[in-house]
Amino acid sequence: MAKEKTTAFFCSECGNEFSKWMGQCPACKSWNTLVEEPVGPKKAKSHAQGSGLQSGKAPVTLKEIDLNAQDVIGTGMGELDRVLGGGIVPGALVLVGGDPGIGKSTLLLQMCRNLCNSDKKVLYVSGEESLTQIKMRAERLGDFKDALSLYCETDLADIEATIRKMKPEVVIIDSIQTMYTQEITSAPGSVSQVREACAILLHLAKSLPVSVFIVGHVTKEGTVAGPRVLEHMVDTVLYLEGDRYNAYRILRGVKNRFGSTGEIGVFEMCQDGMREVVNPSEYMLSGRPAGASGSVSICTMEGSRPFLIEIQALVCRTAFGMPRRQVTGIDYNRVNLLMAVLEKRMGLKTGDCDAYVNVAGGMKLQERAADLGVCLAIVSCYEDIAIDESVVVFGEVGLSGEVRSVGNVSGRIAEAGRLGFTTCILPKSALKQLKGETRLNLVGVETLTEAIQYIRKNQRKAED
Ligand code: TYD
Ligand code: MG
Repeated sequence: MAKEKTTAFFCSECGNEFSKWMGQCPACKSWNTLVEEPVGPKKAKSHAQGSGLQSGKAPVTLKEIDLNAQDVIGTGMGELDRVLGGGIVPGALVLVGGDPGIGKSTLLLQMCRNLCNSDKKVLYVSGEESLTQIKMRAERLGDFKDALSLYCETDLADIEATIRKMKPEVVIIDSIQTMYTQEITSAPGSVSQVREACAILLHLAKSLPVSVFIVGHVTKEGTVAGPRVLEHMVDTVLYLEGDRYNAYRILRGVKNRFGSTGEIGVFEMCQDGMREVVNPSEYMLSGRPAGASGSVSICTMEGSRPFLIEIQALVCRTAFGMPRRQVTGIDYNRVNLLMAVLEKRMGLKTGDCDAYVNVAGGMKLQERAADLGVCLAIVSCYEDIAIDESVVVFGEVGLSGEVRSVGNVSGRIAEAGRLGFTTCILPKSALKQLKGETRLNLVGVETLTEAIQYIRKNQRKAED
């Protein structure tokens, strides 16, 4: 008689199951991601098969579906609402990822407090902290006017029964890696457990409906530990990022079925929990050196929001044969490329110089619109000319030194004007996109040379 299989191999990236080990996952083609886990006898129907999205079995037409005023629930925190796409959608499954100790539990507990204070029924399920620990945290966060239901449990069958009985509007599961279902023999946190736990919660969220927030820890590579499948199953994926030694935290929407992605919310970790930073540009620009070379303010977009940030560059002669290039908050290769453009097209002899480029405030820039700012910061430091503090720049730089247009020009200029900037260096072709009046002095440039000439000329003016 053939021996029954007791283990199987699961891909920790895509969650697929295989009977034998392989170096590369045949499904998602990632290397070294297969892990061995015990498997029990299969149930007749696992939760992964029935999603609970539709109660009846027959197809229905669009017209027949009743939209019973799917009012979103405000969380009482504007920054969180924006990333969620306006608020909490009933029946939504939201995954909140982030490094340990970054503030996920704090943020969600604060959200619970606001929801309870506006008479919503909320259940906070913790598999990581005891009731007294949560109470201690709640004490730091201030007033909890109404009773918040806390539940320390890791068995999903019990959690499901409690949710069905209590019928809360919002449930927090802290964290998915501690939850387990007895139907699967592997340990909590393993691929199959995490996948099944998420399927159970998905079923519950859609069938009741109840909005469920799942906390997930991230791996060293920066993805939610457990299978990638988790990200596909949920409606919204949010990442809380930041430096543990820096008080600022950025909540980033990576996927959202109810709103636009790429939105960010900015928070500050204080003694009494996370505080919203309503005006992040002001904070990012605070402490800017006056009259120093190598510093330039740029305007970048994060989702639909314009942000003003300072870029700093330091260029000095290298002490060794091999020049150093060090970059924080921006793509290293992009900076290398821009330095090559400066060297070839502008004749900037940086080949024997160390160069350091830094985005102030701990932000990570992904947008090409930062190119012109990086170039001008490098030139400003290399030639030791200070750029006036009232100047803001943006634009993409091409390989032949041309300055190319970027999106949302009006939004960027409006934000710069609001913060008191008076001059904006921008791509000439972007001027066409501009709608409405502006108080700013707009300097349209076609090439990097024109932009550099402008800062050189204005430097001379300042010295006169
Ligand atoms: P926590 O929410 O427990 O992180 P996570 O759930 O993501 O693991 O955050 C813990 C950190 O936050 C800890 O280092 C202490 C700090 N903290 C504050 O600075 N202020 C506060 O009011 C609270 C509750 C925590
Ligand atoms: Mg926590």
